[in-house]
Amino acid sequence: MRIRLGVIVMAGVLAPWALHAEIPANDAASEVMLPGFQGILADQLPEHDGPGATLYQRYCSQCHRMVSPAKHSVSEWNAVLTRMRVKIKGTGKILPSDSDWAEILGYLQHHARK
Ligand code: HEC
Repeated sequence: MRIRLGVIVMAGVLAPWALHAEIPANDAASEVMLPGFQGILADQLPEHDGPGATLYQRYCSQCHRMVSPAKHSVSEWNAVLTRMRVKIKGTGKILPSDSDWAEILGYLQHHARK
């Protein structure tokens, strides 16, 4: 793992497109998948008792801890969720209904980085 990550980092320095292409193929090296990653706790979420936060917690902490909604911009959340949808389908985790999915996206975008 350590050697593989080094290769990716070097590839990224030499050719940024290579870094971009490698990261999705190496999920385990992602910040959120590392053992020490804390993320944001449920009671620290904005509107933490509301439906958006509740659904975010229910469906999005199946594989990793939650990331603060303020970490990403509106368009970044769109891209992240598109990626997560593929991952959820590929692993047999529970996929939210379309309306719950829209609620989660709306919640994250409402509290996104401005
Ligand atoms: C099937 C397991 C799985 C589920 C369920 C899942 N994720 Fe992820 N998530 C991953 C993996 C693996 C990565 C690391 C690779 C990557 O970033 O694509 C990740 C990375 C992330 C990141 C880090 C990317 C960044 O740039 O900050 C965010 C944010 C994220 N997920 C949000 C979500 C949200 C929101 C949901 C709920 C809709 C969700 N995840 C559900 C597997 C999952």
